[in-house]
Amino acid sequence: MSPLVVENVAKSYRQGARDVTALAGVSLDVPAGRFLAIMGASGSGKSTLLHLMAGLAVADGGRVLVNGTDLATLSDRALTVFRRRQIGLVFQSFNLIPSLTARQNVALPLLLDGKSDDARVESLLNQLGLAARADHRPDALSGGEQQRIAIGHALVADPAVIFADEPTGNLDSANSDIVCELLHDLSSRGGKTIVMVTHEPAVAAFADEVVVIKDGLILDRFEATARDADDVARRYQAAIRGTNDQAPMTSKGPMSKSQAAT
Ligand SMILES: Nc1ncnc2c1ncn2[C@@H]1O[C@H](COP(=O)(O)OP(=O)(O)OP(=O)(O)O)[C@@H](O)[C@H]1O
Ligand SMILES: [Mg+2]
Repeated sequence: MSPLVVENVAKSYRQGARDVTALAGVSLDVPAGRFLAIMGASGSGKSTLLHLMAGLAVADGGRVLVNGTDLATLSDRALTVFRRRQIGLVFQSFNLIPSLTARQNVALPLLLDGKSDDARVESLLNQLGLAARADHRPDALSGGEQQRIAIGHALVADPAVIFADEPTGNLDSANSDIVCELLHDLSSRGGKTIVMVTHEPAVAAFADEVVVIKDGLILDRFEATARDADDVARRYQAAIRGTNDQAPMTSKGPMSKSQAAT
């Protein structure tokens, strides 16, 4: 079974007197080692989907299975432990602990789990190009360095899936490229399964595949293997306009649930 399976998840939010549908039934199957980008306009439901998949919010309907476990079957306490071990999270705002050094931030999920693995932490710091900065606190590090620490923090427990919500949103283009390259390598050479939300075609182009969502539904899904940002931008725009004649899979309009699950 794939490390991430999403079956027809739905979510609404109460906004004043009315209900806003953030997700209207989304299904996804993300095989091991796949790097998937989720694109969509502001308010299309990207973060909501990511939060449901990462166990940060509970769906109104449908199921999320991470490594074969239905997140809804876990108690709060069990979910906390499960997330620490099986789900890595990277946010736009880095979310590091300011009083801890880079090394301590990377090691934190192990510590919280009553474990330690100095060799793994050092090897991750090396892999992320952070060895020389390991004893610095986040406020003494650049945005790109902080985001690489956050990626180390997400990776250290060797989770089944890494989720990243606009991981390059606070980075300049040089650091954005470094982080994208890193995520790409983690998946293509390290076999990590990664799901990343972004609205930038140049960022999505580093992924293997792009899923386009609009109004809480999957509109299209296409390969992005050539790392061609212009191609991703063109196919994304075509999907949004509903004139996608490039992708045979979706030429009849929005994907059916069975297509979305393949
Ligand atoms: N906690 C919340 N309470 C009420 N409404 C919410 C909440 N979170 C999201 N929404 C609504 O759900 C819809 C989807 O929001 P979501 O944050 O998933 O969009 P997004 O695609 O991540 O957008 P952005 O690109 O701006 O981050 C929006 O209409 C939003 O206003
Ligand atoms: Mg968002």
